[in-house]
Amino acid sequence: MTAPLLEIRGVSKRFTKRLDVAGKIAQRLGSKIREETVHAVDAVDLSIAPGEVLGLVGESGCGKSTLGRVVAGIHGASDGQVLYDGKDIAALTGAEKRAATLAIQMIFQDPFASLNPRMRVEDIIGEAPRVHGLVSASDASNYVDEVMSKVGLDPSLKRRYPHQFSGGQRQRIGIARALAVKPKFLVCDEAIAALDVSIQAQVINLFMDLREELGLTYLFISHDLSVVEHIADRVAIMYLGRIVESAPTEALFAAPKHPYTKALLAEAPRLDQRKRDFAPIEGEIPSPLDPPPGCHFNPRCPLARADCREARQMLETISPGRAVACHHWTET
Ligand SMILES: Nc1ncnc2c1ncn2[C@@H]1O[C@H](COP(=O)(O)OP(=O)(O)OP(=O)(O)O)[C@@H](O)[C@H]1O
Ligand SMILES: [Mg+2]
Repeated sequence: MTAPLLEIRGVSKRFTKRLDVAGKIAQRLGSKIREETVHAVDAVDLSIAPGEVLGLVGESGCGKSTLGRVVAGIHGASDGQVLYDGKDIAALTGAEKRAATLAIQMIFQDPFASLNPRMRVEDIIGEAPRVHGLVSASDASNYVDEVMSKVGLDPSLKRRYPHQFSGGQRQRIGIARALAVKPKFLVCDEAIAALDVSIQAQVINLFMDLREELGLTYLFISHDLSVVEHIADRVAIMYLGRIVESAPTEALFAAPKHPYTKALLAEAPRLDQRKRDFAPIEGEIPSPLDPPPGCHFNPRCPLARADCREARQMLETISPGRAVACHHWTET
């Protein structure tokens, strides 16, 4: 097996909502009000091979974006490590740190919110490579043209502002900005979700062309199972902060093992159908502020027994490239 390009080891991310002054006073006066901690990501292990596309799927609020942000260095992890090319990114310094930071770039859902409306496209794309000395000032203009062409944008439009472009074009600007620093790894967080369906296909094709051309590796976060089925080599299913199953795409869709994956796929429309979001699975998603003990899925799970309420089953490899976190997966 090749060494992973990116490895996530025991990564957790907690957000604590601190009490404001009024809250502190209320607490002094005997109110039960207290600080609340959300376990957005809870001891996640994942590794992604060079050139691989890993799809990350799960219901809203399960922690996909938070995990993506930790990988991209936007959030620090509360626990655990993110290794790039075998090295713990948080422990790097100097030139090595900068190289790892540039190598991992994030593409966001809403290109409009993530592009500075007062900057011309040429500056949006050209700023980071200039600042980081990847191109000289004299080559910068040609470099921007080159990157724009690569993502299917007409370089003659580079003096325009983001609002002068369509949604699909703006997402291409976001992609060009990321590519301009010559990344190796892209975290795409619902990167096509805000686009019209007809445009989605074009942007997906662009991602796949870039993968070929530049040898990119992807963590591809999406609600849309049909998209993930189409483009991912492997899929990881997330539930309330944890990965419950990961498997090669075809194997996962053909024979899901975790009861949560089964429920998700049973409810999900497939490629030939148009409806694209998850239908609700019976039972409510427990609050991430107060998740159930043991396996987080146990209140909704048809297989749940006492052991499921007592202890969390960690991800266990059941065949090459395939892992599941369930005490009773063999019983289905
Ligand atoms: N900056 C933050 N501060 C506090 N809580 C946060 C923060 N970011 C995320 N959370 C909480 O962490 C949990 C996971 O959120 P996250 O955005 O990662 O989920 P998601 O899977 O990306 O959801 P969606 O599919 O809706 O984008 C949620 O309960 C959310 O409220
Ligand atoms: Mg999200």
